[in-house]
Amino acid sequence: MTEKDYNSTNSFSGKDVSRKTTKLEISSEKKKSKETKSITEEQSISSKDIENLKKVGQIAQETIKYAKSFIKKDMLLIEIAEKIEVKIESLGGKPAFPVNLSINEIAAHATPLPNSEEKAFGLLKVDLGVQIDGDVADTAFSLDLENSKENQALIESAENAVKKACEIASNETKIREIGAIIEKTIKLSGFQPIQNLSGHSIEKYDLHAGITIPNYDNHQENYLEYGVYAIEPFVTTGLGQVRDGKPSSIYSLTKDGNVRDSFSRTVLEYIKETYSTLPFCTRWLHKKFGSRVIIALKNIEQSGLIHQYPQLIESGKGKVAQAENTIIVLKDKTIITTR
Ligand code: CO
Repeated sequence: MTEKDYNSTNSFSGKDVSRKTTKLEISSEKKKSKETKSITEEQSISSKDIENLKKVGQIAQETIKYAKSFIKKDMLLIEIAEKIEVKIESLGGKPAFPVNLSINEIAAHATPLPNSEEKAFGLLKVDLGVQIDGDVADTAFSLDLENSKENQALIESAENAVKKACEIASNETKIREIGAIIEKTIKLSGFQPIQNLSGHSIEKYDLHAGITIPNYDNHQENYLEYGVYAIEPFVTTGLGQVRDGKPSSIYSLTKDGNVRDSFSRTVLEYIKETYSTLPFCTRWLHKKFGSRVIIALKNIEQSGLIHQYPQLIESGKGKVAQAENTIIVLKDKTIITTR
């Protein structure tokens, strides 16, 4: 699941500021040095965590294989999302965020509402996450559901870009070099990378943990530190930028606190216990609480305790393909957990 660059880093409704003050169990408080590589970064990933990260990566791979086997044109999006989420659970994981099913010029952050009757068509991006104990695998692929040469070329370009980026990623790689190889690969295929969508560092229960992996050469000289990263190029026939669209029904907690209405409070407690700081959606809560959860979510959102992600739409209405892998950068090697 991608991260949008809102230019000034403080504009994202308190996300970075308030997340640190939450009393929820966010395990890592480590400092994110932007300029230096430090040995302590490496030591912060224990071998137990590495094993767990590999395990969620394996579940993600199997889920992708399964998803590719059953997704067909005109299938209900809600059926696709639920089958994928059930599969993740049957393999011993939990969804790290609601399955994103984004079509054509919608680049990301679309998931079906409860009782949605939307169907799959066109260029479909499937972005899914698996977590166990807060360790996350984040991965995505795209499908052409209309037999279009252009869609297929976009998908191939995204897959090539992520492959090449993962090949060069190590603690001796500058972050800009990853962006540069993604940009070059995509432009050589005749398309544009989406510049204001990026990959991201991942920490326990923290899907967007502060470091951005750009999809173009951003001319910043810092190196990739030891840690976990999602690399996710987006390729388009359009302008190479996204804008915010309608609300997605995907949320995450932004800060700790409470609401006055007692039912809303029950819902908020459930959110904290069940998802911690990872994203969730109306569809999941509707299953648990029924349709009155919609008003509770509105209350909680108005109190500023949760943030709703907008859908992200390509600014030139260009079609968008996406590919994504999660990697672990260690001292002597880089592990791709999702391929
Ligand atoms: Co991601």
